[in-house]
This record gives sequence, structure tokens and C-alpha cells, in this order.
Amino acid sequence: MPSPQGRPPAEPRHFLDINEIDTAGLRRILALAVAEKARGQRRPLLAGKTLAMIFEIPSTRTRVSFEVAITQLGGHAVILDTAGSQLSRGETVADTARTLSRYVDIIMLRTVDHARTCEMAEYASVPVINGLSHQSHPCQLMADLMTFEEARGPIAGKVVTWTGDGNNMANSWIHAAGRLGFSLRIACPPELPPRAEDLQWAADQGADVSVTSDPRQAAAGADLIAADTWVSMGDDQSEHRHNLLAPYRVDRHLMACAKSTALFMHCLPAHRGEEVTSEVMDGPQSVVWEEAENRLHAQKGILLWCLAADGDGHDP
Ligand code: CP
Ligand code: NVA
Repeated sequence: MPSPQGRPPAEPRHFLDINEIDTAGLRRILALAVAEKARGQRRPLLAGKTLAMIFEIPSTRTRVSFEVAITQLGGHAVILDTAGSQLSRGETVADTARTLSRYVDIIMLRTVDHARTCEMAEYASVPVINGLSHQSHPCQLMADLMTFEEARGPIAGKVVTWTGDGNNMANSWIHAAGRLGFSLRIACPPELPPRAEDLQWAADQGADVSVTSDPRQAAAGADLIAADTWVSMGDDQSEHRHNLLAPYRVDRHLMACAKSTALFMHCLPAHRGEEVTSEVMDGPQSVVWEEAENRLHAQKGILLWCLAADGDGHDP
């Protein structure tokens, strides 16, 4: 839609994947998140702005943190789930994108099928945020990076170990390693590797990303151990899958392979006793609740960056 001055509108600034944003952009989002957290007060930087959130699959943290974030920034959220919208009756993502773009300033989509997120971004004339797909979870990574740096300083040069399924979180960690200069060691069953395209992308960046089937080897000397559910949304539950992943559980023996200062992270929801023991999750090295809180601050950084509304009088 042309602007009143007849100029074509600027391309919307989507937040789809960490490897689609340059290092300066990621650093800007993190700085905004840290600044909003430190400020600790509400700022109407997004007054009058509306965020539409579409959930085709469940969420607790993403849904609540985005709604609270935009509310605290002076804006408003509208939430759609598939069953309650015409998406459930076959309206296309493209037509939904075109329609919502006439009402709202920014859209967030959570869906299993990453192609639907890409389609939303292609047809929306407002920014689109990937609120998780089976392929990646970039919003969570921004909170994780913030949480690590808050506790341990710059992540560049540090060693991060991912243990378990080579899932959407693993793929986003690979993207972050390619942009932010830390080493990433992935321990996963050979049957459940991360996406080959993402590993190739990281190799093309010259990133230090390795994959092994040995969790103890991957955890040796690490600064951070990260894990996630064995069965992501969209995966089939199976005993076979659980058997494959059992050796990758984070327990005190695996934590003991890492540095004594190592942190434990989990994006949540956790399945206690499966991918992590309660002893580790509730233990002194765990920062899972800080990580969950930082979803709120990171969402503010993402919203402000997408809407180029950092309040300091210049484009973030
Ligand atoms: N970590 C995360 O995305 O949590 P939800 O599924 O509850 O949003
Ligand atoms: N890998 C998990 C993350 C949940 C936040 C899933 O996709 O279900």
C-alpha cells in the first residue's frame, strides 16, 4: 500500500531467525532488552500500537511475556488461536497476513510449520516475529543470551554445550554461535541431529560448532549446559525417542564435567526426570527462572527493534 506521500513503504523489519539478523542488530536488541530491564518502569514507546499473536500450538511464556511486554510499552495485544479464527476453516496464511496488516502494527506467529511463518512475513506489510516453529525459536535465544551475559559477561569466547534433541532450540543456538563468536558443542543421538542447513551455515560463517554423540565430551569445560524437552511440539511421542535421548539427560554427573562456574539453562517447559533432574533444575547452577523472566525483557527489545521505536530519537 503506497504511503500518503506516494512513496513505497519501507520493508518491514521481521524477526524470523537469528541468522537473518546481523550481529549489530542482535546486539541492539540485547541492549534494548537490558536497558528496559534496568529502567524497571513502564515507558509508552509503543503507545497506540497493536500486536496480533497467532497461536497454532500451545504457549505459556511466549504468550504472557509478549502481552505483558507490549502492555508495559503502552500498546495492546490481540490473541488469536487457530480454532477461534478462520485459519481453522482454511483461510490462507497469506490472506490472513494481508488482513491483519490493515489492523495491527506487528504480528507474532507460533506454528509447527516454519513455511507458514515465512509465508506470513512474505505477505504482511508489518513486521512478523517467529514465536517458535519446529525449525527455530529465536525469541527464546535472545532471552538466553541476555541471561548468560547478565551472569557471566560477554558470551564471545565461551563454550556452550547443547545436550539432547537437535531441535528448534539447537538450531537457534547454532545461529547465535555464527553471529556472536562463542563455541557451541552439540551432543545428540546421531538419529536426531540439528538441521544440516544450519550446521552448513555456521561452517560458512567460520563458527566453532561441533556435533558429537558423547554428552560428557561435549560438556567438558563448558561455561553453559543447555537442554530441552525430548519431544517438541509436532514430534511423535515414542518410546524409541526416549530411549535414544536418555543418555543425554542433564544430571549432576554431567554438570560435574563442565566448569564449576557453569550455568544450566532450559527454555521450559521442562519434563523433570527426563531431560533434566530436579536436582540440577532446582540447584545452584540453574538460571531457568532468570531465563524465563528475561523472556519479558527480550520481547521488549524485539518489539522495539522491529518497530524502530527505541525512544532515543534514532532508528535502532
Ligand atoms: N519457552 C517457551 O517458549 O515457552 P512457552 O512454550 O510456554 O511459550
Ligand atoms: N523444543 C520445544 C520448545 C518449547 C518452548 C518445542 O518445540 O516444543
